[in-house]
Amino acid sequence: MNSMRGEMSKQDNPDMHDQRYTMGYSEEFQLLLRRRSAANTAAHFLPLLKPGMRLLDVGCGPGSISMGLADVVAPGDLIGIDMEETQISLANAAASAGGHSNARFQVGDALNLPFEDNSFDAVHSHAVLMHIPDVSGAAAEMFRVLKPGGLLSCRDVILSSCFFEPRLDDYSKAWDVFGRLLAANGGHPEMGKEFKGLLHSTGFADVAASASFECFSSRDDVEFFYSFVKGWFFGDQTVAAAVKLGLASAAELGRWSDQMDQWRTEAAAFAAISWGEAIGVKPE
Ligand SMILES: C[S@@+](CC[C@H](N)C(=O)[O-])C[C@H]1O[C@@H](n2cnc3c(N)ncnc32)[C@H](O)[C@@H]1O
Repeated sequence: MNSMRGEMSKQDNPDMHDQRYTMGYSEEFQLLLRRRSAANTAAHFLPLLKPGMRLLDVGCGPGSISMGLADVVAPGDLIGIDMEETQISLANAAASAGGHSNARFQVGDALNLPFEDNSFDAVHSHAVLMHIPDVSGAAAEMFRVLKPGGLLSCRDVILSSCFFEPRLDDYSKAWDVFGRLLAANGGHPEMGKEFKGLLHSTGFADVAASASFECFSSRDDVEFFYSFVKGWFFGDQTVAAAVKLGLASAAELGRWSDQMDQWRTEAAAFAAISWGEAIGVKPE
C-alpha cells in the first residue's frame, strides 16, 4: 500500500528500518497530539519520576507530553527521539518557546536507539509500540539503555475497548477497519493490554499494568472528536488506503461517515479511547 508515512526520515537515515506508520503527520492528527500533556496521559508514571533523573521519550512526536516530563525531572535531562524530522523540529521549537532548557530532541529509531547501554533512569513511550512491527526488538532496546533499577513506562490503545455511544449502525465495522489498517502496516491494535506479557518476556521486574479511558463527553470534546474522525479516518488519505487494501468500499466508508454527522448531533453523544499502560523495572 501507499504508506501514510513520509519517506523523509528513511532518506535522512539510511540505517533506519523500513516501517509504515499508519497515523501519518497530517494537521488533523497533529491536533489530536497537541491535546496531550504529561498530566493527561502519564498519571500512572509521574509519581515515580524525580528531579535529576535522565529520561528518554521514545517516539515523542511534537513533544506535547515531553514538556511536562521535562519539568518533572529538571534539572535532569529529557531527551526525545522520533523517526520523523518534522516532529523533532516541532518538539525543539516547543521546548525553546516554553523555556524547557533541559529538553532536547533528535531523530532516532526505537529499534536502534542512539544511546549507550545503562544510560537512562527512566524511559517513556506513549502511542508508539502499537505502530512498530518488531515490538519485542523495541522493548529490548528500551531495556538496554535503562540503568539497572531504571523504569519503563509504555501506554497504547486497546482498540476493542474503544467506543461510541449511541452506537452507529456500522460502528463495529468501522473500528474493525481501523484495526486492520494498523495491522496491515505491521501494527498492534490491542497493544495496550499486551504490555504485561511483553515486559515480563523482555526481562523487566515488578511489572504493573493498568488501563484508563480518554473520554469525549462535553460538547467541545464531542465536536473535537467528530472533527478528528471525519478529518483523519474519513479523510482522503485513510479512505484511499482502506479501499486499496480491500478493507471497505468507498461507499461503505461514505455511509459510516454520514452516520458520524448524525452522532455529532445526539444529546447522548459520548466516545472514549481505551488505553492500557504498564510500568516495569530493570532488575539491579
Ligand atoms: C501516535 S504518535 C505519538 C507521539 C507522542 N508520543 C504522543 O503520544 O503524543 C507516534 C510517534 O511515534 C513515532 N514512531 C513510530 N515508529 C517509530 C520508530 N520505529 N522509531 C522512532 N519513532 C517512531 C512516529 O513518528 C510518531 O511521531
